[in-house]
Amino acid sequence: MVIVNQQRVPRKRTYLMCSPEHFAVEYAINPWMDVTRPVDPELAVKQWDRLRETLVGLGHEVHLLAPEPGLPDMVYAANGAFSVDGTVYGARFKHHQRTAEAAAHRAFYESQGWRFIAPNETNEGEGDFAYLPEAHGGLILAGYGFRTELAAHAEAQEALGRPVISLRLVDPRFYHLDVALASIDDGNIVYYPGAFSAAAQKVLAQLFPDAVLAEAEDVLAFGLNLVSDGANVVLNSEATRLAGRLKAAGYTPIPVELAELKKGGGSVKCCIAELRH
Ligand code: ARG
Repeated sequence: MVIVNQQRVPRKRTYLMCSPEHFAVEYAINPWMDVTRPVDPELAVKQWDRLRETLVGLGHEVHLLAPEPGLPDMVYAANGAFSVDGTVYGARFKHHQRTAEAAAHRAFYESQGWRFIAPNETNEGEGDFAYLPEAHGGLILAGYGFRTELAAHAEAQEALGRPVISLRLVDPRFYHLDVALASIDDGNIVYYPGAFSAAAQKVLAQLFPDAVLAEAEDVLAFGLNLVSDGANVVLNSEATRLAGRLKAAGYTPIPVELAELKKGGGSVKCCIAELRH
């Protein structure tokens, strides 16, 4: 057994979240959503609030987007845009039920003076894009196969001026990149190989030889849908095995309960967009 005793250093983050006040499962656009299973919106707000407090408690800044009635998935703020170095590449949702969310995100960024690039191609923001500032000089990882179109990867590269690595997702349960892969610090990732095509697995192994690998149990518990500041890893409380593995790698796992939001097919990361100035 290898004993890792590495000092991980956190970096302060700025996040965007949106309260699940209007959260519901009224339609099913991913395999986790079941319209016949009731959700408890009050509990959803409570659990979401704990998540927000946890991030603030870690010293991070959390901006809030006003939730809108009729947009029950708006709580999944990660999907509304993707920002790198002060530039924002806007989202364009695949499903009509979520289309209107993009404008709300755009209005937020424009009101804050960000350089906003409107998309022509279908893409679901940080749901399918991840940024690793210290990997290979600054690398964007991008998923496709279920939501984001491959053409959006090229568009994101043109918008943001960072190399985009396209990774094909192959399991409908892991329909967004951010349920199968996460950055755990500025240069490294944790991921579940089985969510990716054989070629994409090869690409990830080549680019990230030191990645933490997760197992089916971890990804099914939404453990990979996590947010890390480089030292503290906030993740779904059901992902106990992954928490242990991250701890062994020198990170501090911080479990949060998000059972209600799991009914919509999302967890920690889905609720959080990072604002990268
Ligand atoms: N119900 C939402 C959808 O299917 C969940 C989105 C989860 N967000 C994420 N970043 N993976 O679109």
